[in-house]
Amino acid sequence: MSNLSPTSDLTTGTSEYVGEQQAAGAMQISQPYELYSQENQATWTRLYTRMEPLWQQYGAPAFLEGRKKLGLHADAIPRLEEVNARLSQCSRYHAFAVSGFLSSFAFFDSLSRWEFPTTITVRPAKTADYLPEPDIFHDVGGHLPLHTLPEFAAALQRFGMCAHAAAEICSHLTDRAEARRRVKSMVRGIARAFWFTIEFGLIRSPAGLRAYGSGLLSSFGELQYALDSPEVWRVPFQLEWSIQACVDYSRYQCLLFVIESFDQLFAEIGKLEQWMKDGRLNNLTGGEREISDEEADLYLKLA
Ligand SMILES: [Fe+2]
Repeated sequence: MSNLSPTSDLTTGTSEYVGEQQAAGAMQISQPYELYSQENQATWTRLYTRMEPLWQQYGAPAFLEGRKKLGLHADAIPRLEEVNARLSQCSRYHAFAVSGFLSSFAFFDSLSRWEFPTTITVRPAKTADYLPEPDIFHDVGGHLPLHTLPEFAAALQRFGMCAHAAAEICSHLTDRAEARRRVKSMVRGIARAFWFTIEFGLIRSPAGLRAYGSGLLSSFGELQYALDSPEVWRVPFQLEWSIQACVDYSRYQCLLFVIESFDQLFAEIGKLEQWMKDGRLNNLTGGEREISDEEADLYLKLA
């Protein structure tokens, strides 16, 4: 909860309802739809409407299809219940509402169970262009459409299984400090691969390069920049680069990886798991994303 005055609506950072849930330690929450204010609804409509032409031009075909399958539209903030009913017709994924950021362990563990943690709040109208934390426009508008595609859903679930593999491998080490160090290195690699694919990935389509990463698809400023700017490196996906590359969250990405298909993505994540077993993620360069000792211990307790 921010130090701004609490509000009775569902605005990111100030929602009284979400603040209460966080204070009570509730991670999984409901979506009290009646709390969305007129301003929340208007912000959703504005965000959605202005992205529409950009999505048509720069969005991956599977993303555009997925939006239709989920019945998303500009007129109203989606109801998770309805979105899930449609999603269940297409893939095994199910979205559930959360009160805020999860630990990386809880996040990946959810993915491994075909569950996707989803923010339900809407960003404040005045920060429509940039919000450092996810909101429903990013999570439902940006992420969920691709979950309708079974090949993509399988790759996403495989990320979750990678985190379980890291836990399995490291929890058997008797040297606790070394186990922590190693699990942190592995999670750093998994999180970076996730960042450069699920959040900021590009895919080749018959019409040219398109974005499938939700970080791009939910950013009015960055989507066009990512595909058109000469400042951006767009290179064929290489797992070994993606897990070593540092991430700067404070600016538009200057390095993006291109996949040929979601089957390729699934195979790459399988390779990631194998590399962990082979010890190739034991000593990755430091930097983002770094997890705390407490988070590392959550992994070590798993196996
Ligand atoms: Fe995301």
